Amino acid sequence: MKPVYITRRETFNAAHKLWREDWSDEKNWEVFGKCSNKNWHGHNFTIWVTVKGVPNPDTGFVINLKDLSKIIKDSVIEPLDHRNLNLDVPFLKGVLASTENVVIKIWNEILDPIKDAGGELVKIKLVETENNYVEYYGGKEPI
Ligand code: NI
Repeated sequence: MKPVYITRRETFNAAHKLWREDWSDEKNWEVFGKCSNKNWHGHNFTIWVTVKGVPNPDTGFVINLKDLSKIIKDSVIEPLDHRNLNLDVPFLKGVLASTENVVIKIWNEILDPIKDAGGELVKIKLVETENNYVEYYGGKEPI
């Protein structure tokens, strides 16, 4: 039987800045522009988590969406919503808070819980603005 891909969407908002302490103010501005504003800026993020699997013959589910939603809420929304990504989030400590880096770290947080719930995580799409989003398809390599 061929797999089915199921996606759950959740939202959160958070502040961040793109900034390297080891760079001068000028260099940070040159590379990161307005995103380097010292007093932070915020985004309304949307996260789409896609899980792959063969529907369970008893339930018809690839993964129970109640379980998937709870995993995302506990592991992503709770630690990130209304937070400062540079300062407040243990699993983002020391990480330059670009959307690319954040999506990789989120992957590492939800991969095992989704596996434990019987699903296979295959993709996370993290939407930062209506014009920008990133997609990540896996790997557990550290950044
Ligand atoms: Ni930003």
